[in-house]
Amino acid sequence: TPRYLADYQVSAFTISTIDLTFELDDTATKVTSVMSVKRQGSGEEPLVLDGEHLTLLSVKIDQCLLSASDYYLSATGLEIPVRADEFQLTIVTEINPQDNTALEGLFKSGDAFCTQCEAEGFRRITYYLDRPDVMAVFTSKVIADKIKYPYLLSNGNKIASGELDNGKHFVQWHDPFPKPCYLFALVAGDFDLLQDSYLTSENREVALEIFVDKGNLAKAEHAMASLKNAMAWDEETFSLAYDLDIYMIVAVDFFNMGAMENKGLNVFNSKYVLADTESATDVDYYNIEAVIAHEYFHNWTGNRVTCRDWFQLSLKEGLTVFRDQQFSGDMNSKTVSRIQNVRVLRSQQFAEDAGPMAHPIRPEKVMEMNNFYTLTVYEKGSEVIRMIHTLLGAEGFAKGMALYFERFDGMAVTCDDFVNAMADASKVDLTQFKRWYSQSGTPHLKVSESFDPEANLYHLTISQHNQAGELSSPQSCLHIPVKMELIDADSGIGQQQLLELTAPEQTWTFEHYQAKPVVALLEDFSAPVKVDFEQTDLALEVLMLAASDGFCRWDAGQKLLSRYLHKLVLEPGYALPASLITIFSKILQKDSDPAFTAEQLTLPAFGEVVDQIHQVDPLALVNALKTLKGFLAKGLQEPLSACYHNCAEKTALSHQQAIGNRALKNICLSYLAVLPGADTLVAAQLSSAANMTDTLAALNASAYNNLPAFDSQMSAFESKWHDTPLVVDKWFTINASLNSDDIFERLAALLKHPLFSIKNPNRARALIGAFVSANPQYFHCQSGRGYQFLAEQIKRLNEINPQVASRLITPLIQYKEYDLSRQQLMLEQLKVLRALPQLSKDLLEKLDAALN
Ligand code: ARG
Ligand code: ZN
Repeated sequence: TPRYLADYQVSAFTISTIDLTFELDDTATKVTSVMSVKRQGSGEEPLVLDGEHLTLLSVKIDQCLLSASDYYLSATGLEIPVRADEFQLTIVTEINPQDNTALEGLFKSGDAFCTQCEAEGFRRITYYLDRPDVMAVFTSKVIADKIKYPYLLSNGNKIASGELDNGKHFVQWHDPFPKPCYLFALVAGDFDLLQDSYLTSENREVALEIFVDKGNLAKAEHAMASLKNAMAWDEETFSLAYDLDIYMIVAVDFFNMGAMENKGLNVFNSKYVLADTESATDVDYYNIEAVIAHEYFHNWTGNRVTCRDWFQLSLKEGLTVFRDQQFSGDMNSKTVSRIQNVRVLRSQQFAEDAGPMAHPIRPEKVMEMNNFYTLTVYEKGSEVIRMIHTLLGAEGFAKGMALYFERFDGMAVTCDDFVNAMADASKVDLTQFKRWYSQSGTPHLKVSESFDPEANLYHLTISQHNQAGELSSPQSCLHIPVKMELIDADSGIGQQQLLELTAPEQTWTFEHYQAKPVVALLEDFSAPVKVDFEQTDLALEVLMLAASDGFCRWDAGQKLLSRYLHKLVLEPGYALPASLITIFSKILQKDSDPAFTAEQLTLPAFGEVVDQIHQVDPLALVNALKTLKGFLAKGLQEPLSACYHNCAEKTALSHQQAIGNRALKNICLSYLAVLPGADTLVAAQLSSAANMTDTLAALNASAYNNLPAFDSQMSAFESKWHDTPLVVDKWFTINASLNSDDIFERLAALLKHPLFSIKNPNRARALIGAFVSANPQYFHCQSGRGYQFLAEQIKRLNEINPQVASRLITPLIQYKEYDLSRQQLMLEQLKVLRALPQLSKDLLEKLDAALN
């Protein structure tokens, strides 16, 4: 049964303190919880606690032990018809971390114990009011074997530790900040520890500690540097400083998500901590910096001010993603960072917004909360915050943040509370803007222009349309910031302006133009919308070279490439124009930032184009991408090759320059590798590569073009790296993306490979997820075998790890994107899954949405 935002009610009880004791054991961990509970309001309601997969050992109210007839126990909770208004409640439960393959609550990751409580995992640890608006002060005592678990960690400050009988020891922690239980964490294990410290702007000396598997100490350096940069950035940008004496990060190999911001004790997927140049790519380095910052920023946006209920998730996630994107933009190339954000939106979030699980950034109905940690809540949520930033300006936004913390520090609040603080601090009216929180679907802008040479006037008309293409009614119109530039065709001089679209249709007039200017629309991607605007090839070429905004220069090129991909999809033999070669050779020869040039040369992703073409035949698109790539490679062979060798020979570059240089070199390689004679080039790069970025680029080229040396290259890679889990993941991913007709036999063998484990989410995604997203040619093959393969794996995962299963099902539920024959094949698999006996809530919610 779903829950509704409209049904929110204040909790009948609060819990002000909770004292936890964990006696850790692989299969029988004992959890003792002592809580101070108080009735809120005057009712006589019973106390209803959440709890799942628990064995209840005892319940005590004050000093009185309850008998089974004093309460009602169900599979989802414990109901106690208590009459007192204030009492101490003691509950003892037993749990089995070893068998917890869902990785929610307390589980084992390798030899270590760790927890994941967000969103509703704490109820798998003990009976509790598992909702974010119940905030308590936590004290946690952890008891375990001293040899196996030398480190016993939890939130806050260490207040006691000591030896116990039978080779055990204990550590007790106290977190002074009241918090919801989703921010609780416990870790026990044997680790290597990287230590550092940070002096905050308020002169607090903070111990920084990163715990990693033994032998990985050097691989934590980048994470540590990123953490310190994030701490400094938040002080400078928003005057937000850290508030405890210790900040700990633990990296584990078994984790459903990227990372988790538990107060003072972040738990991370090791993928977002561990890196050295030999084993990690430039993209890995970038992502580590971003995720470390994201979790750190949550300390204020999420922990100090948290969500009233889970429908408000974007309050903390949209805002924190926006903060980490701004940080990444400041630490790296702003434009390239922004381009990456937009690629994710267009290739994945737009599809989500058009599919059966579409929801506003503040959902109104939820069955399984884990299904709502989505691209919409996170990425579109961040775009909504970014639009507020655009409308208020950086200064107004900073004032709004200050007021937000002044009003709500220590509280659990709503998205409206946030927007009101922004509006009040800046005196900008955001009433209409709030509709972004309740509308799902990607808005379309339709743009037309006209030029009056007599009066020297240029008119620009923009109308807004909903997902279905209908003109928005005045009551449903969004407030859309459209940043734009008019470029004078003769002088090349630009005029920038912010337009605010608030009505169904608006026209702006610009004076004193001798000739029709070229318009660069949606600078910096100022709103998460689709734009229907038929600019000529010539206009797009002007923008590619002359727009002031880097995003617009890139976007014009993408639009041009998409245009020809569409033509190729409709007519495979379509003769591509030589003008494409001319403009892209200008791009190649233009002296701009190599990282940016690499982005300009990158073709739109498969998922991006799928979203643009109604019921596309996926194989026609795969072929169109191949044709366009081949055409550009052939036409640009000389400059690409010159650029490739020029990049390869560059030395004495700064760290950032070297990254851009590699990006450019490797995009050149990906083109050159489709031409005859590619084997030698790819083999040469592989043998001379001194870092994982170059190695992977070569292997990917080998996989995409199914080069004869692929198998020997991959087995050499495997023998070198079989002991490094994160690199083994990469090996599985490349194997899964091979363009070879025997791919299904290969997949079957990979599933049986000794290094494969479906219980490890990273490994499962590296093989199954990668096949689905990186191998469209075979995933979408006519026989339906690709869909069947995915459904079979989802069926296995349904019983092992529902969250991982539920994420992998995405392409199948978005079946309406594809042609009718694909739709039939996908629907068949969805029906097979729907008929499974023990379907998890996660899959059930999505399957019902897709099939109804
Ligand atoms: N709050 C975490 C983050 O974004 C993600 C936790 C996701 N948990 C989940 N069950 N889906 O940093
Ligand atoms: Zn987050």
